[in-house]
Amino acid sequence: MTINIKNNVYWIGKIDWELRKFHGNEYSTFKGSSYNSYLIKEEKTIVVDTVYKPFAKEYIHNLENIIDLKKVDAVIVNHAEVDHSGALPELMQYIPEVPVYCSKNGVKIIKGHYHKDWNFNPVKTGDSIDIGNGKKLIFVDMQMLHWPDSMASYLTGDNILFSNDAFGQHYASEFMFNDLVDEYELYNEAIKYYANILAPFSSLVEKKIDEIVAMNIPIEIIAPSHGVIWRANPVQIVKKYQTWSKDYQENQIIIIYDTMWGGTRIMAENIALGIKSSNEKVTIKLFNISSSDKNDIITEVFKSKMVIVGSPTINKGITVAVAGILEEIEGLKFKNKKAAAFGCYGWSGESVTRINESLKKAGFEIVSNGLKCLWNPDAESIEKCITFGKELAGNLSNSIE
Ligand code: FEO
Repeated sequence: MTINIKNNVYWIGKIDWELRKFHGNEYSTFKGSSYNSYLIKEEKTIVVDTVYKPFAKEYIHNLENIIDLKKVDAVIVNHAEVDHSGALPELMQYIPEVPVYCSKNGVKIIKGHYHKDWNFNPVKTGDSIDIGNGKKLIFVDMQMLHWPDSMASYLTGDNILFSNDAFGQHYASEFMFNDLVDEYELYNEAIKYYANILAPFSSLVEKKIDEIVAMNIPIEIIAPSHGVIWRANPVQIVKKYQTWSKDYQENQIIIIYDTMWGGTRIMAENIALGIKSSNEKVTIKLFNISSSDKNDIITEVFKSKMVIVGSPTINKGITVAVAGILEEIEGLKFKNKKAAAFGCYGWSGESVTRINESLKKAGFEIVSNGLKCLWNPDAESIEKCITFGKELAGNLSNSIE
């Protein structure tokens, strides 16, 4: 399948409708994804990124139907992760001498993956190649957005930014353009992508966008390496990234918990009641971690002002599900969020302390020592949960609208 993007620029990637897990099992992709590769046919013929390895032969077959592979003048590798470089070995078999443009770190990572010494040409911000007809490809270093090798390429004349992972979404659609798909679905996948992949690098996102704006280049199309292409008002996703990168918060509190016999669930629900009774406007979302998608939870944590985490005590600690989400939260380095802990216990009751320690380590402001309930909550304990919720809402009263 080939889609014309603009003038002599084509999408030649692969839509992966079946994909339900990405990065191993680390990222849920309920709406599939796409691996976006692009072909530029000016006086020179350029391939920008490839596709994931399982689709390499299909990719090459498709490309052979469009061009003579021997006519490829250069290959751009904006990012060496295998979902984009996976078909490179297959492609390079046909054109082993063709120059490969990537960042300096890209050379190391490509070699690390494929153990080949292709005709590498390391580039940095501002470097460019002439591709004929008065057009150039200018390279922009995107280091740590999200890998050390990441970069973007900008096509002059057509004003297309091939941004690779930045501005992408795991979202399969036969339409491939932002103005043709459901806006709500697209937004949800874009923010999930940011929260789960780019959040740790928010300070770099901010700086990089400022740097690109300062380059004063007109951007008519942003063509990422996953999901749909931003051709209608592409600046909208740049503005979203600017907003998301600045300690993003909505008027929301998330309560995430695990429960063994329902006691910690009862606590969660009554804490929510307490919060609601103090503030009707705040959105409160409850997730049982064991039965919810962890990436959806992470997206909601990203949106929240306060995160309240509950676990029953088991083996003097917390449940595996709670430990897992706390590990994920710690790695994502969310900023400017408050937190509290709760949980039922039978005899030793370490869970609240363990959760507080973990949330503190993750950079959250712990606003309470937490709330423990012995065995199953009785009427008095339920009242304590409601009061606890009210206190937490009070703690946020300055920031809750
Ligand atoms: Fe889509 Fe970082 O690879």
